[in-house]
Amino acid sequence: MEKYIIKGGSPLVGEVEIGGAKNAALAILAAATMTDDSVHIDNMPDERDTNVLLQAMESIGVIIDRVNRHSVVINASQVKNHTIENEFIKKIRASYYLIGALLGKYRHAQVVLPGGCDIGLRPIDQHIKGFSALGATVLIEHGIINAKAQKLVGSHIYLDMVSVGATINIMMAACMAEGLTIIENAAKEPHVVDIANFLNSMGANIKGAGTDVIRIRGVEKLHGTDYTIIPDQIEAGTFMVAAAATHGDVTIKNVIPKHLESISAKLEEMGCQIHESDDAVRVVATKRLTATHVKTLPYPGFPTDMQPQITVALAMASGISIVTESIFENRFKYVDELTRMGASIKVEGSSAIVTGVERMTGADMSAPDLRAGAALVIAGLVAEGFSTLDNIKFIERGYEDFEIKLRSLGANIEKVDTDAEEQKFRLKAGYGDIAQ
Ligand code: EPZ
Repeated sequence: MEKYIIKGGSPLVGEVEIGGAKNAALAILAAATMTDDSVHIDNMPDERDTNVLLQAMESIGVIIDRVNRHSVVINASQVKNHTIENEFIKKIRASYYLIGALLGKYRHAQVVLPGGCDIGLRPIDQHIKGFSALGATVLIEHGIINAKAQKLVGSHIYLDMVSVGATINIMMAACMAEGLTIIENAAKEPHVVDIANFLNSMGANIKGAGTDVIRIRGVEKLHGTDYTIIPDQIEAGTFMVAAAATHGDVTIKNVIPKHLESISAKLEEMGCQIHESDDAVRVVATKRLTATHVKTLPYPGFPTDMQPQITVALAMASGISIVTESIFENRFKYVDELTRMGASIKVEGSSAIVTGVERMTGADMSAPDLRAGAALVIAGLVAEGFSTLDNIKFIERGYEDFEIKLRSLGANIEKVDTDAEEQKFRLKAGYGDIAQ
């Protein structure tokens, strides 16, 4: 099975290009089925999650023309059924965006109930609350959600908690409902704004995306569009933290600095120099980082998807940090792996108390989920000696060419599939030491 092998100790230096936002792309691809016209989407990340969602869409008759890795033309005029099969939802939860899209367009959608995952229960009660408020009958039978409506009528919906998925799913269904829908306590993430802009480019009438009150006036039909997805805030943040943790100097290009403000602020608190330009952020960390406290919050707060990565950087900072996870119930599973590398972290409920250590040593690790996997790669980059990381399919769900981009910054990392390949890397990297 493929895994990463890493030799720690090299600071990351140079420039890296950020791809399209996975969590915007998944919603935008689903929303593209809401018109019978062709929709051209650019800057789509070539990752497992987007590729699996495209397969799910093809399974119901959507015509997908993959122009290249990052560009696709979608035509949903021939959609035959509205049932998304189990195999796709098991692979990615975000298939559930097809409920909002198909319910909006066809007044019917049937999708297998997504399971929990490694970071928490991940219920979808707020999605269902929104669909029901719009007039849909939502039944859950044999693990399948069946949403049906004679017609969808706009409603005033108050989300019980800030939910990115529910905000997006309800917004999609409401686009083609009759009259005005108001979503209160809406999520404000950059990808929520991106999907709203995409839908408006198809003729929808959405106002207020990016604030906590979104108003959607339903329209009869949506038309085709050409759209370019925003850069990935979390991929960018991951490289920013990797640069900081390895005491490097990296310019992260093709980003929207405003989306990264909470991450930049934290890294400055930890002693990094951050230089922003229109579409790039440069992170310089010449000395040992210093401790700080982090609490994950909905945007514009510090993103939960950056919690494992910043904790790795704090694990070797001087001083004691407290990292509090306020979004998901079980997002510290990776801490056990860090402890095996010499980190000193104690998880108490929803907080981790991180006592910075001066050195960590390489270990054989396993990625528990997407963002924790990326964080453990960063841990391997800062640890002394060799580390291996398996279950990298999690990482490939949300990072395109992750090890290739890291290698271009000077990281000693390779994806290997056999013992022979691993030995070859160890010999090559080991001799590198002698050569220095
Ligand atoms: C999206 O998940 C992202 N996934 C997650 O990114 C991200 O961590 C999360 O938003 C928060 O930013 C995609 O966009 C595909 P939520 P989502 O609904 O929509 C609870 C990654 O690494 N909740 O904002 O599922 C929920 O349990 C992934 O790319 C309900 O209780 O997150 C959680 O505690 C991981 N009922 C909180 O709300 C609901 O109906 C926030 O979840 C919905 C959510």
